[in-house]
Amino acid sequence: MKKVFIKTYGCQMNVRDSEAVTALLRERGYGIATTETDADIILLNTCSVRDLAEQRAVGKMNGLAHAKKKAKSGLILGYMGCMAQSRGAELLKSPAVNLVVGTQRFHHIPDYLDQLVAGKKSVVDVADEAGSESAVKHHEPGKVTAFVSIMQGCDMACTFCIVPATRGAERSRGIPEIVEEIHKLVDTGVKEVTLLGQIVTSYGRKKSEFVKLLTAVNAVSGLERIRFTSPHPQGFGDDLVAAYRDLEKLCEHAHLPAQSGSDRILKLMRRGYDRAKYLKIIEKLRAARPGIALTTDIIVGFPGETEEDFAATAELLREVQFDQGYIFKYSKRRDTPAATMPGQLPDAVKEERNQAALEIVNAAALCHNTRLIGETVGILVDGRSTKGAKRMLGRTRTNKIVIFDGYERQAGQLLPIKIERATTVALYGNE
Ligand code: SAH
Ligand code: F3S
Repeated sequence: MKKVFIKTYGCQMNVRDSEAVTALLRERGYGIATTETDADIILLNTCSVRDLAEQRAVGKMNGLAHAKKKAKSGLILGYMGCMAQSRGAELLKSPAVNLVVGTQRFHHIPDYLDQLVAGKKSVVDVADEAGSESAVKHHEPGKVTAFVSIMQGCDMACTFCIVPATRGAERSRGIPEIVEEIHKLVDTGVKEVTLLGQIVTSYGRKKSEFVKLLTAVNAVSGLERIRFTSPHPQGFGDDLVAAYRDLEKLCEHAHLPAQSGSDRILKLMRRGYDRAKYLKIIEKLRAARPGIALTTDIIVGFPGETEEDFAATAELLREVQFDQGYIFKYSKRRDTPAATMPGQLPDAVKEERNQAALEIVNAAALCHNTRLIGETVGILVDGRSTKGAKRMLGRTRTNKIVIFDGYERQAGQLLPIKIERATTVALYGNE
């Protein structure tokens, strides 16, 4: 039996895609290797959002190619995901690479591997496929939390972003098939689902369609918690804000990628909102669900970003006091409008602003977490933590990681945990 190892880079969509391919390969009779040294086939599921992610995958592949050549082994190597989509056949330049599969063709990987195992030298498939948004539906067993893909692609045109080029136009699955998938997951023990897509708030394209989906998922009995990612701030209309008040399974956490606090930069980014509108959404969410946790994405060093623009971003971070924030240094992406804008900034400036933004974000995160010391929080136990033998890991409804001494059998349980210690990224406590 040939064994496959999939290494995943980038976002939760990629994690989900890798899982679906793993499940399909298992069904086809392939073994799943737990380490790459144990594998006959290694696939890299790549990310293109920033250059660093691409470089990491290319560096990894070069290392694997070198080892393959040296050992004269029959190792099969492949790229899948966003970088495979945007670079296509160019990736076959390395003769050690056998497979390149784009973002709409994942479900054909078992067929392509069968062909490669039978002796074919290489396969490239980066075609579009109508209906492919419904192809990512296979799951691995034994999970407490599951990702469910509800839509693919993005029709926005943020000037820094490569995603519309790698994931294609928006395509949504129907509510009945999504709900059916969630029912099946609940039957296998899943307690929490995260609805996934590149811009989930555009689900179904029509106004309120996403809220209709949330309402339908909320009605699935046996399901405890609902999350979603990634939304767009523009999608937080009054209907979605009300859903945070009305749907008891919808967890009190919203990820609102701000990208910048400067109106001038937001316009150059073509984000479709300004600072005032963004802050208004935050205010409405906090009013609808007091205690809601808020997280964000910020890009520092966008072309033409002045000290004043960055100061406006820093001010936004201080004002909102996010529970967590992800700061990215602007990275030039091929064929995006921002890549050729004037005022590209040196890395030293980006790095300095990155550090400054991180300090604000970390201080706010620590402050939110420290406030929970001495409190008892409800968590859903996900499984074992990587931090030690008896350490188990769960999450609060606000999506904070909680690590505690416990037992494997507690996975899937909702437990009260008394918090004793806090860092910027996790809470520690005991039952
Ligand atoms: N809604 C999308 C967001 C795309 S990528 C999704 O999650 O699929 C996630 C984050 O990466 C963005 O919110 C943005 O902050 C960051 N990002 C995207 N393009 C970038 C670029 N060219 N340089 C730096 N950061 C970028
Ligand atoms: Fe990218 Fe903007 Fe869509 S960040 S994924 S183009 S909403």
